[in-house]
Amino acid sequence: MEHKLCIFASGTGSNAQKIINYFRERHDVAVDLIVTNKPTAGVLDIARQEGIDSHILGKGELASQDFLERLQSRETSLIILAGFLRLIPSTLTQAYPKRIINIHPALLPKFGGKGMYGMHVHQAVKDYGEKQSGITIHYVNEHYDEGAVIFQASFDVFASDSPQDIANKGRVLEHGYFGMVVDGILSSL
Ligand code: GAR
Repeated sequence: MEHKLCIFASGTGSNAQKIINYFRERHDVAVDLIVTNKPTAGVLDIARQEGIDSHILGKGELASQDFLERLQSRETSLIILAGFLRLIPSTLTQAYPKRIINIHPALLPKFGGKGMYGMHVHQAVKDYGEKQSGITIHYVNEHYDEGAVIFQASFDVFASDSPQDIANKGRVLEHGYFGMVVDGILSSL
């Protein structure tokens, strides 16, 4: 196996599922591990159904040497944050330079930072009367949503759109592009 992927997710995991589907028939890339901070996260059901190893983070474990060694022992090529809501500690950003990416449901640097996740983002886009929103895939550093942008795609927001409508448009783009963008990053490693 040329590339082993590790997905970090805190929620239902629809983006994790898309990544798994994208690489399903590939012999050179595999989703090797799913990590969550939430024991009830839907992404754990996906891991079970797909027969992918999963790991639930204990308190303080994300920044621990033990956890870093666990990842290193699996020879992870790329860590993919797919709706992972914890800040990534410097133990990981230093060990995996340009090898941790995140997907964010807005056009960064707009509507990013701590607390800006999920529907909070789409509500803010609505409240500010934005004419466009979109998705951003970016490298991860020790600050929320601040690493260099790799890819963005946008859509129009109409005055009649609800936050849920905005979320739905974003989701279509996320599901359509995430696997392809990951593939492009892997081919440049
Ligand atoms: C995605 O929309 C992702 O962009 C967002 O969480 C959702 C996860 O959905 N991430 C953030 O808001 C990070 N700040 P999923 O669990 O169905 O993939």
